[in-house]
Amino acid sequence: MARLLHVEASPRKDGSISIACGRAFLDAYAHAHPDDEVDTIDLWSTDLPDLTGAFAEAAHALQEGTSPEDPSPLGAAAELARRFVSYDSYLFTIPMWTFSVPYRMKHFMDVITQPGFTYSYSEKDGYAGLVTGKTAVVIYTRGRSFGPTSGIVSYDLQKPLVEMWLRFIGFTDVRPVVVEGLLEGEATARAARARGVKEATRLATEI
Ligand SMILES: Cc1cc2nc3c(=O)[nH]c(=O)nc-3n(C[C@H](O)[C@H](O)[C@H](O)COP(=O)(O)O)c2cc1C
Repeated sequence: MARLLHVEASPRKDGSISIACGRAFLDAYAHAHPDDEVDTIDLWSTDLPDLTGAFAEAAHALQEGTSPEDPSPLGAAAELARRFVSYDSYLFTIPMWTFSVPYRMKHFMDVITQPGFTYSYSEKDGYAGLVTGKTAVVIYTRGRSFGPTSGIVSYDLQKPLVEMWLRFIGFTDVRPVVVEGLLEGEATARAARARGVKEATRLATEI
């Protein structure tokens, strides 16, 4: 039995297109992998530790390869990272907010991206991700379209950020579903959503 984690970054719930595509993925996944366990981290109802000065000091010590004087501020982050790393595959549903990701998603990334939690560093070997041998499906939703002919490709800081982060912490198998143009009229939105559901459903049987 494998375990899949859904990281849900939209607060819109029933109105959310990323979650709607995610549900299509999860329905198809349950059908294709009936014995697997599926968990969700809803980033809007999960306690994410504040990145206080004490947290940053302790994280800084880890990044320098030393032991923090007071490691206690990192306790909840370590627990969240341990939970995150324990799965076999991942579904991320992530809206674009102000060209990037919702701040709760960035908060989650900041919290678990610490040495020893999701990556390692040594002078000899440099950086190495610790979340290895796993697959991630990432559903990205956006109001506008950022394709090669849009003239605004460089405004997309959502997909490049998430992909760079996933690579950094060790993922090599990352499968994107881009659902865009959702605020470009009803017909465009409907077609984009239908393509997103279809692609998500297909990926659920592939992984
Ligand atoms: C706070 C906020 C910021 C947004 N910023 C952008 C943006 O910079 N570019 C864009 O194309 N769409 C933007 N949108 C539109 C969303 O990406 C779009 O509505 C998408 O469907 C949201 O995903 P969801 O339906 O899963 O919540 C923004 C929406 C919100 C609520």
